[in-house]
Amino acid sequence: MTNHKTAPPRGTCPQRKGIILAGGTGSRLWPLTHSVSKQLLPVYDKPMIYYPLTQLLQAGIREIAVITTPRDQAQYQALLGDGRQWGVAITYLVQPRPGGVAQAFVLAEDFLAGSSCLLALGDNIHLVPRGSTAPAARLAASQSCGIVGVPVSDTSAYGVARLSAQGAVRALVEKPRAGGPGLAVTGLYALDHRAPTMARSLRPSKRGELEIVDLLNLYVVEWAVDLVQMPADAQWFDAGTHDSLMAAADCVRGLQDRQSRLVGSPDLAALENGWIDAAELAARVKGCGASGYGRALLRHLATMDKVAGPPTDIPVPNAA
Ligand code: TTP
Repeated sequence: MTNHKTAPPRGTCPQRKGIILAGGTGSRLWPLTHSVSKQLLPVYDKPMIYYPLTQLLQAGIREIAVITTPRDQAQYQALLGDGRQWGVAITYLVQPRPGGVAQAFVLAEDFLAGSSCLLALGDNIHLVPRGSTAPAARLAASQSCGIVGVPVSDTSAYGVARLSAQGAVRALVEKPRAGGPGLAVTGLYALDHRAPTMARSLRPSKRGELEIVDLLNLYVVEWAVDLVQMPADAQWFDAGTHDSLMAAADCVRGLQDRQSRLVGSPDLAALENGWIDAAELAARVKGCGASGYGRALLRHLATMDKVAGPPTDIPVPNAA
């Protein structure tokens, strides 16, 4: 990596691995989460975990660990499999109880085996219109530690980045009581190979968790935190409450309608990265035209086919 301010070309990040943290209790979504893991709930036309998974694919990451509760692991395996349908390798790890976001690095230490990584929270949704670079792709170019910042009018519900006069990250604060306008940090983090060792050195917070803010602040001390700004035309949701879940779903629907294209689709991301080809995807989604998601993929494949020219037997589906 030569220039850490620019994005790497798509599909060229062989070293960095990905983690999706999809455990937790989901208490703010009860009773939806009484028997179903939050990250399996729908966000409009696809399971929530598709969104962070797509972020990792857009960053060129091909080795991914999904961390779940012991109860829910089998359901994630049934949904995502081993990842080969997207040209990636997915492995599964268990978090016995919600021990905090930074615990992900301790649990994934063997999986990471000295690699740098991108950690995506399973309820973290970045909606980026076509043509804008996904923040994940820019974060993947970070050399030490990278975060994504979004301006908000009230910071009291978020992890917040405080900046120096020069715009460097000088501290991260969890849910500042004073609130007010500031820069919220989304649930997508780039960290170098030291993350597991540094996470092990943390003391649990008052709520008994290894806090991601505490881990990031160890990098802040070195002035080593890159800040990626969310593009102005993009939106971010942590889909952890009934209202934000609904708002995220509405936003996905609106964006997809406007641009006639899926967002948060690992199928499209894998296709764009050249990790699967159109014939493989067509074979997999053939017969899925009863679903809006399936129809959108079939339409996309039919459009590609028109551009490429040769006739195929991909059925062009009717509008929903
Ligand atoms: P949170 O939304 O902070 O926690 P939660 O999912 O348990 O929900 P609630 O606050 O309503 O009880 O977690 C953010 C994301 O990180 C979410 O996708 C779950 C995941 N997570 C874990 O997998 N393990 C953990 O120990 C924590 C704290 C979060």
